[in-house]
Amino acid sequence: MTEVQSITGVRNELGAVRSRGETIGLVPTMGALHDGHVHLIRKMKEQASFVVVTVFVNPTQFGPNEDYSNYPRTRERDRQICEQEGVNLVFYPDVEEMYPVEPAISFMIKGLTDHMCGKSRPGHFGGVLQVVNKLFNIIQPDLAIFGQKDIQQFALIDRMVQEFNHPVRLIIGDTVREADGLAMSSRNAYLNKKERKRAPLLYDAIKTVNEIVTSKPDVSVQDVLVEQEQRLKANDLKIDYLAVVNFYDLQPVVHIVPGSRYIVAGAVINGTTRLIDNLITDFKQIS
Ligand code: PAF
Repeated sequence: MTEVQSITGVRNELGAVRSRGETIGLVPTMGALHDGHVHLIRKMKEQASFVVVTVFVNPTQFGPNEDYSNYPRTRERDRQICEQEGVNLVFYPDVEEMYPVEPAISFMIKGLTDHMCGKSRPGHFGGVLQVVNKLFNIIQPDLAIFGQKDIQQFALIDRMVQEFNHPVRLIIGDTVREADGLAMSSRNAYLNKKERKRAPLLYDAIKTVNEIVTSKPDVSVQDVLVEQEQRLKANDLKIDYLAVVNFYDLQPVVHIVPGSRYIVAGAVINGTTRLIDNLITDFKQIS
């Protein structure tokens, strides 16, 4: 496994790889790797002959009161995981390498960030697109994978790929869960015992909304959401949002059309930790 910190270094390495005709697959991460990332690496290894993992805690996607400085950094463990999983190259630039000067150009996103995480984390997705755009230009991957847990991120990157004509095929990775249903996330490390115990309730609420709206499409989506929000609040989880949105444009849904694709998504504040989760509706019960 090759480890590279500089953009010039990674370009030199990948130039040779590309000229051998290999398929380059990118797994972008912010490190603190867990089984969710392992799933992404393994899925990528099925499709790409040369897998690149990037590890970079990107400052431009954190708001001023967010956890940039506390974000877990576990470099040695990340290295070991990548090695065990047969990753070919790890790119772990520092901030000066990625942002040698204060960026003067930023992403303006219309519509797609008015709801869900975009609403409560202004500027976050602009920062994500900025760094992913840079990574696509540096690595020039044939394939890139992002997890379903960050579904709004996936939708925005997909849109950027289309609008900016990036020659990359995107793959979505499943959400990997703990035994009690909690979606794996590097931020789960922040939870104390009490917070950890109630954390799976978000997924529970999302599953319940999904079950109700897919089995009784005439139901008021709003009523179903309010009921589940109350349940979460009663368990000391602060609601950021709980929503049913269209799969294609992430706009909130009022009436369910059986067979259409929706995303049931939510974010809660558990203690001081923000947790997100979602699932894609499945109408097989009624079709
Ligand atoms: O999903 C993440 O870990 C990050 O948002 C990403 C895509 C690596 C960009 O920093």
